[in-house]
Amino acid sequence: MRRGSRYRHLVNAPHIEPELFTWEFASNPYPAYAWLREHAPVHRTRLPSGVEAWLVTRYADARQALADSRLSKNPVHHSEDAHGKSRTGIPGERSANLMTHLLNIDPPDHTRLRRLVSKAFTPRRVAEFAPRVQELTDHLIDQFAHTGSADLIHEFAFPLPIYAICDLLGVPREDQDDFRDWAGMMIRHSGGPRGGVARSVKKMRSYLAELIHRKREALPDKPDPGEDLISGLIRASDHGEHLTENEAAAMCFVLLFAGFETVINLIGNGTYALLRNPQQRAQLQKSLERGEQELLDTGVEELLRYDGPVELATWRYATEPLEMGGQRIASGDPVLVVLAAADRDPARFDEPDTLDLSRGDNQHLGYGHGIHYCIGAPLARLEGRTALATLLRRLPDLRLAADPMDLRWRGGLIMRGLRNLPVEFTAT
Ligand code: HEM
Repeated sequence: MRRGSRYRHLVNAPHIEPELFTWEFASNPYPAYAWLREHAPVHRTRLPSGVEAWLVTRYADARQALADSRLSKNPVHHSEDAHGKSRTGIPGERSANLMTHLLNIDPPDHTRLRRLVSKAFTPRRVAEFAPRVQELTDHLIDQFAHTGSADLIHEFAFPLPIYAICDLLGVPREDQDDFRDWAGMMIRHSGGPRGGVARSVKKMRSYLAELIHRKREALPDKPDPGEDLISGLIRASDHGEHLTENEAAAMCFVLLFAGFETVINLIGNGTYALLRNPQQRAQLQKSLERGEQELLDTGVEELLRYDGPVELATWRYATEPLEMGGQRIASGDPVLVVLAAADRDPARFDEPDTLDLSRGDNQHLGYGHGIHYCIGAPLARLEGRTALATLLRRLPDLRLAADPMDLRWRGGLIMRGLRNLPVEFTAT
């Protein structure tokens, strides 16, 4: 029997509850999510950490929960986490004093910080960045195109978003390899030992604090101190209010963290899905050869829906007793919205388990919904489209160089992504 197929015949068996969070589940969680959607759409479960939480798996419930102001993002509301322990899935942020960021706060603080960052992180700034993303993409492919094989995660999907976000923030080029090392440590150990991660986050934090300080000092002397995002964040003001240095550091950190593992997974999961669906991939390749953009645009949205980078939205906590999907949720209970399950809900999407790059009406939840909707979506789309189109154009006979059953998925609750993606192609 193929791994991951064990539950398929059980979807119609209400009394046989699938085991969650096993190795088999990690490699293909979709049959188990189909069972939950059908038989226990709002389901209380014990997580591998021992903490109990509710999983929300139907599209309609998920969308509602993401916009429900009775569900707080602030960990102080967790009945077990009265000391404000972070559950964002961002390792080490608490010990590095980086908790005050968008994914851990509610209005009115969230509204203020989000307004400030939106003034600096504009779609225009992202659009102007397109040539640099193309340059980075080509440069990374140049490093391995002549070899005929590569691990696409390590050699391509991982460095691209790191260098991109560092450039955008204004981290000098000579320091960007330090970020690559710290970020590598953070994702290698996500779901694993934490000591090295905490050290890397602390180093990243002190570097960011120092850089923000330097840029702030430089501002008065330079009326137009460059277009980098850190300078933009420092300059941004709202009714005379600015970000404090601590808020600016936490903001840069969340932009870095939320902006790199997600994009790695978009490129990794997306390429993997294309390689496993040759007809769809061939259609995309032909449309790119004709110079068309449309299938690439709808295709990247479909890849986000089909096997998106963020499996579960970040932690939310009930601030009062409430009812959802027929279940009573107590005040202080954590609620986890399973984006990956909602985006395969047959009540919302026709043939949800089929990859259809031309799918219209694709209101997937891959970027979330409501006030915490992904602020980096324009950048993610730019990076995802550029990376996938350039890979298919430059390495047209790209193929998987491993048995899919031997691929490993990274641990951790929130993200869904491959550890490795070995590929082969004709060397150029
Ligand atoms: C394909 C790539 C990406 C995906 C799938 C993704 C997905 C998400 C999701 C699902 C959320 C909402 C989380 C929740 O409500 O619990 C979110 C929020 C966020 N994302 Fe992204 N993201 C991506 C790329 C990026 C990038 C490139 C950046 C920035 C450089 C970024 C920055 C953020 C930030 C700061 C938030 C918090 C917004 C808030 O709380 O107001 N993301 N993202």
